[in-house]
Amino acid sequence: MARCSDFASSERAKSERGQAVAEPGAVAADPGARREQLVELYREASDCTRCPLAETRTKVVFGSGNADADLLFVGEAPGAEEDRQGLPFVGRAGSLLTELLGGIGLERDEVWICNVLKCRPPGNRDPQPIEIESCHPYLEQQIDLIRPRVVATLGNFATKLISGSREGITRVRGTPQLHTLAGLPVFVMPLLHPAAALRNPSLVDTLRGDFAVLSDLITQHPPDAAGTETEDEGVLAAAQATVPVPEADQLDLLG
Ligand code: URA
Repeated sequence: MARCSDFASSERAKSERGQAVAEPGAVAADPGARREQLVELYREASDCTRCPLAETRTKVVFGSGNADADLLFVGEAPGAEEDRQGLPFVGRAGSLLTELLGGIGLERDEVWICNVLKCRPPGNRDPQPIEIESCHPYLEQQIDLIRPRVVATLGNFATKLISGSREGITRVRGTPQLHTLAGLPVFVMPLLHPAAALRNPSLVDTLRGDFAVLSDLITQHPPDAAGTETEDEGVLAAAQATVPVPEADQLDLLG
């Protein structure tokens, strides 16, 4: 698996220097070519004006990490520090995410981390439907180009958007789902948002437990859409059978 530890920083530097990147087009099979297409998408997103957040953001937070990752995290939206640096999850919630990843033996540069919204909502308010709709194509193309086997959704907004369900995170967290994303079978793992655990530290253990399930999941290949009985479906069923009962707490980032 190719690694790219500081994708956003290095691509921003190239973009500012006007360095050439690959032409956009249909998704390439080769990981190197897909990475170049991701770079092109990064350049396009960097001066996006599709929604009113373009007027208030400092930097677009495209995403960062391994452009060929098996595991892709989707958070909600950049906060103040992310908006300043142009990188996702670099504030307190990001420190907890980094620690949780470390707990399952992963570094940030082995996964891809991004958000539902690429620009900060003023005052960290909830994403608005028009913003989610405007930004969704970027997320879809990121999934299409990175081709993860597992998408971990952090909190309510990411979970509802990716699962296409109205069920809130407190009901569905910790239980892997099987979806077709960008035409490929993908395990979707709904997780509490780390910011929720910062507000309510008792949820950190819940997150740790769910990361343990995630750790198992990323060793598996999602079964194909044909639905044939495979060893992987057994793994999905086993993972689903062992998840703890969801917490009842209702916080801003839960639902
Ligand atoms: N930082 C992010 O990048 N996303 C979130 O959802 C929260 C903090």
